[in-house]
Amino acid sequence: MADPGPSPTARAEISHGSVGAAGADPPRAGRPPIPKAELHVHIEGTLEAELALLLAGRNGISLPYQDAKDLRRAYEFSSLQSFLDLYYATMAVLCTEQDFADLASEYLERASAQGVRHAEIFFDPQAHAERGIGLARVIDGLWSVLGSSEQTHGISTALIMCFLRERGPAAAMASLEAALPFRDRIIAVGLDGAEVGHPPAAFSDVFDRARAEGFRCVAHAGEEGPPSYIWDSLDRLRVSRIDHGVRCVEDAALVARLRDEQTPLTVCPLSNLRLGVVTELARHPLPRMIEAGLAVTVNSDDPAYFGGYIDDNYGLLQAVLGMTDPQLRTMAEASFRAAFLADEARARHLDALAGWPDG
Ligand code: HPA
Ligand code: ZN
Repeated sequence: MADPGPSPTARAEISHGSVGAAGADPPRAGRPPIPKAELHVHIEGTLEAELALLLAGRNGISLPYQDAKDLRRAYEFSSLQSFLDLYYATMAVLCTEQDFADLASEYLERASAQGVRHAEIFFDPQAHAERGIGLARVIDGLWSVLGSSEQTHGISTALIMCFLRERGPAAAMASLEAALPFRDRIIAVGLDGAEVGHPPAAFSDVFDRARAEGFRCVAHAGEEGPPSYIWDSLDRLRVSRIDHGVRCVEDAALVARLRDEQTPLTVCPLSNLRLGVVTELARHPLPRMIEAGLAVTVNSDDPAYFGGYIDDNYGLLQAVLGMTDPQLRTMAEASFRAAFLADEARARHLDALAGWPDG
């Protein structure tokens, strides 16, 4: 396996400098990271610059960067689309089963250091298929590592295949059908990619079919897109979680619905900062969402690109937004409650959380 590169904190300094007034270091030295589930992480978004360059060399692919530092200099995003352009271009180095296995190994190493006990991991089959990399190679590579993650890292894992919304519903349906032979290794379907201009309702047949085939359903909505995309994800796609969802705060009736139904929201604060969804972390709507009684979870999204993994996000909420230990416990608890876990495993994780020491 490739060298995992600098620690998340060092990486944040290298790539972006301090990420907030109080910096990226969680003020919880001496305590283990809070036990948590990660419900919103794109495996391709965990591709660190060092591994990207190593794989480029291994596969004879040229990337227009001298070294990792040079590549990280490109991590200045003005919008979701500006990120997606680099994200799709860089994932072109992922070619072989071994590449996907190495990617998953590095994620597990970091996730375990960040207190993750269970991870539901997105991947983007369409972005690989268009490069001639079929689903078998992607899933066999990822699963060669994730299939034993509980034994190797104490982290249970599940895969969520995403449809790229900018490719439209027909391509999504074809991707779903191609995935049916691998259904035993895919727990859910999701919807990601460029949000604005690609409303969820167009995908209702695809999600109906996915549900009929036994998949759970989630969707990115209300990251850059309007509250109506969240309404439609609930009503037309009938999802059991909303990924991001931060723009719900613009619609009081929607907030009331999300609260009444306790629909989990997988919020990604550093992602929102890096993609310009919020201008500064201090203005993030997360405290208002918690205040409103929403089922908020904290996640990393594309941590290699956004300057921090999941516990770095938790730490920043304390450092920048002044969130308290009981509030962090509530969000970690929400993550286990929102996970697609069996009751016995959920109870075990909640016990571990209850045993997390007070600071
Ligand atoms: N939004 C939409 N699509 C994505 C994201 C995101 O934050 N990350 C990777 N694909
Ligand atoms: Zn995402």
